[in-house]
Amino acid sequence: MTDALPLARTRRIGPFEVGRIGYGCWRFAGTPVAAAREKLETALAAGIDLIDTAAIYGFGETAFGEAEERLGDALADAPGLREKIVLVTKGGIVPPIPYDSRKAALIESVEASLRRLRTEAIDLFLVHRPDFLAAHAEVGAALEEMHAAGKIRAAGVSNYTVAQTRALQPQMDLPLVATQPEFSALTPAPLYDGVLDLAQETGLAPMAWSPLGGGALATGQGGPAPADRRDAVLAEIDRIAGVNGCGRDAVALAWVLAHPAAPVALIGTQRPARIRAAMRAFDVRLTRRDWYAVLEARLGEAMP
Ligand SMILES: NC(=O)c1ccc[n+]([C@@H]2O[C@H](COP(=O)([O-])OP(=O)(O)OC[C@H]3O[C@@H](n4cnc5c(N)ncnc54)[C@H](OP(=O)(O)O)[C@@H]3O)[C@@H](O)[C@H]2O)c1
Repeated sequence: MTDALPLARTRRIGPFEVGRIGYGCWRFAGTPVAAAREKLETALAAGIDLIDTAAIYGFGETAFGEAEERLGDALADAPGLREKIVLVTKGGIVPPIPYDSRKAALIESVEASLRRLRTEAIDLFLVHRPDFLAAHAEVGAALEEMHAAGKIRAAGVSNYTVAQTRALQPQMDLPLVATQPEFSALTPAPLYDGVLDLAQETGLAPMAWSPLGGGALATGQGGPAPADRRDAVLAEIDRIAGVNGCGRDAVALAWVLAHPAAPVALIGTQRPARIRAAMRAFDVRLTRRDWYAVLEARLGEAMP
């Protein structure tokens, strides 16, 4: 069969229906308010209504909390924008410890995020990375308490293994609704480590971070894979882009979106034209052979 793989445009994440391309604000630090607002409004107009950030974003470039501050500026500057987006943030990374997901630390993190974002509640809060020194019971208690207090509307995890996610869930009645792994044609680990299987088993929404490999799948420079594997992946992506008459970015995003766990791909470009261009991913006709050819290029061998 040469049918194109289906690419649904929306999915549920807990109580929210969202577009399957989300906009990530990791690289948002330093953005003046008018530019921040333009990026968000461009995203919304294109059908991108999930906005992802984190308390730590900005640390190392400007300051801890800076990306949330700039997003808060834009939300304050554009009345009505807050109600149109599903706002996701994360906490638990505390330089230089590096992690603190004890109950008091997570609650303090969310309260600071609410102040910076100038909003009443976080729609979806994620524990940013597993803190080996925080008991799952304590993390669960923090999420449940914040939910009961109306500070967060839903909860999930990021960079958690399947075992860590399974160990956390029974510690609370609140259902985890999302898991955020790195996932792209350059980082196919969630195909093998069980994260995308757990998502299908339990209904957790996978949110794929760096779906363009942090830009490497557009530029051919750097990225989270050896250069020869990246170049081989790009050769396949360019072939598929040629057939479809679209950019590399659209094909790389379509590859993520085509997985049956229905990931939300979190793009991170700071250029409005590239935010709009990302939506072309939904028009890509990706066959099963195309999808496996990209994976084989990443692996450096044919599927067994
Ligand atoms: N949970 C976690 O631990 C974690 C970790 C990392 C990221 N994230 C989330 O994932 C989001 C996305 O990450 P990311 O920024 O690495 O995503 P990405 O979309 O894979 O990469 C974005 C980068 O690619 C560059 N790029 C170059 N050519 C491009 C093109 N043609 N189209 C689009 N982008 C192009 C962009 O530069 P320009 O701006 O110049 O276009 C930008 O620097 C983050 O904002 C954050 O929300 C989560």
